[in-house]
Amino acid sequence: MAEIKKVGVVGGGLMGHGIAQVTATAGYDVVLREVDQSALDTCMGKINKQLARAVEKGKSSQEDADAILARLETTTEYTDLADCDLVIEAITESLPAKLEMWKEVDGIVKEDAYFATNTSSLAVIDQAAATARPERFLGLHYFNPAQVMKLVEVVRAVTTSDEAFEAGLRFARSQGKLAIPTKDKAGFIVNRLLVPYMLDAIRAYEEGVGSVSEIDDAMKAGAAHPMGPLTLADFVGLDTLGSICDVMFDEFRERRFAQPPTLRKMLAAGWYGRKSGLGFYDYSGDQPSPNPGVT
Ligand code: 3HC
Repeated sequence: MAEIKKVGVVGGGLMGHGIAQVTATAGYDVVLREVDQSALDTCMGKINKQLARAVEKGKSSQEDADAILARLETTTEYTDLADCDLVIEAITESLPAKLEMWKEVDGIVKEDAYFATNTSSLAVIDQAAATARPERFLGLHYFNPAQVMKLVEVVRAVTTSDEAFEAGLRFARSQGKLAIPTKDKAGFIVNRLLVPYMLDAIRAYEEGVGSVSEIDDAMKAGAAHPMGPLTLADFVGLDTLGSICDVMFDEFRERRFAQPPTLRKMLAAGWYGRKSGLGFYDYSGDQPSPNPGVT
């Protein structure tokens, strides 16, 4: 059984930078690949900031933070992933983009390495089958922010070997995560339940049940959720939410997974939530305020 020591993370966005950080924190050497230097700088800027905050709060020592950073190597070249024992994909939620990436990576990375996708919704088998190692391919689904959220869904495709699946469970646990095994069904456990909930919140808004902030405040105060559903949709990224619900709608053909018109129009306007500055809320001020353009 191949021991995991060095981990490649492809994509340093919302999820990828967090996965890279928790992996380096757990003592693994990490190679983080992004498309260009500016994307790598943004990603490392976030990691540096979070590590500095942990030191400031006394939750980590400066030596530990320095050691984590020393374990993190950045690159724009797939060839630097060659000797990784595990490669985790955290790029955009698009099957063609992921397949293109695996085609490159599969030919470069050593044959006994494991491959994992952080897909939120796509069937893992569709990516596994496109590589020459479908038995060493699995899903490792992290939650945003990966540094904080306890769960990793460990997804077993029909081709995943017992050995690779066990390696995935052990890897997630070694990061201090709760590893929950799931079948390879669109949305797995959490998004199967969470995505229709966020979409229903948008429909409730469309039907005039409450304003954006009333719906959010109601779920925080009435159901003890840390964030209301529309804040959460902005936090996840409306583009990501849109991609996930399209995949789930395609798979299950149920209205509860269909994009509500408000979401479709917001995506057409380029309002992707917190990361783009506009979503259900406007993030340009000190505090988020409801986006008056959402009607
Ligand atoms: N990155 C790293 N650390 C972060 C962070 C971030 N983006 N945001 C918050 N934190 C840390 C803070 O530093 C703080 O750490 P500390 O306890 O060591 O000081 C801790 O988290 C709590 O943060 P705050 O006090 O600033 O704020 P909150 O108490 O409001 O917590 C939250 C923030 C953890 C994001 C909380 O609001 C929450 O749990 N929200 C729900 C998140 C959620 O549901 N995520 C899942 C989304 S679905 C998904 O990811 C699936 C995908 O497929 C779509």
